[in-house]
Amino acid sequence: MSDPKEAAKRLVGFAAVDRYVQAGMCVGLGTGTTAYWAIKRTGERVAAGEKLEAVVTSAATEKLCVEFGVPVIPFMSRDIDVAIDGADEVAPDWSLTKGGGGALFREKAIAIAARRFIVIVDDSKVVDQLGRFPTPVEVVPFTLSWVQRQIADQFPTAKTTERVRDGRPYRTDNGNAILDCAFGSIPDPRGVDAVLKAIHGVLDVGLFFDLAHAVLCTADQGVGELVKA
Ligand code: 5RP
Repeated sequence: MSDPKEAAKRLVGFAAVDRYVQAGMCVGLGTGTTAYWAIKRTGERVAAGEKLEAVVTSAATEKLCVEFGVPVIPFMSRDIDVAIDGADEVAPDWSLTKGGGGALFREKAIAIAARRFIVIVDDSKVVDQLGRFPTPVEVVPFTLSWVQRQIADQFPTAKTTERVRDGRPYRTDNGNAILDCAFGSIPDPRGVDAVLKAIHGVLDVGLFFDLAHAVLCTADQGVGELVKA
């Protein structure tokens, strides 16, 4: 593979499935260009004869599962043994920014429900403090202007942008809008999360805490596990 970044994503996606997925398991499959490789690897294992089932974090991931031959079952129709997903940022305490692909709500549901949640990233996602990547916030469309005004009141220096795709307002699989909120460096992500969640109309915030059981990250052509600070 000629693109080194894509090769890194493939390496870490494959490694997560090979290290954490065993025959018979129900696997939570994430969304995005890194999770793509975990979905592909799961498909290869199914094609090789292993009985695996998946719950999916998005319609896009469900489509890939169909393409790769991974059986998809409804969320919580059985316990999820392990969930594997990418992230937009990983802080030293393994708190995460997620939702760059707009799937944060279902990703969090599956991460919470899974016995183990494995995060897969290339080293460009590792940060000292969250906030380099704008925080995605899922908002019920009717309340968008209200939520934007509340965020401006609470965080006067933040810049919020409604996500647009193909020239039209982006909608999540839940039919909601995404506000990408550039706060700059976030020294207190839990505080920011609490303030945002308290605004009427906010469904969820792409900040994840205390959910990851391991973070696999590419390094020096291999895959290592980040040590939690
Ligand atoms: C989707 C996500 C993704 O995990 C995150 O955006 C990382 O994606 P990629 O692996 O494509 O960089 O949270 O909602």
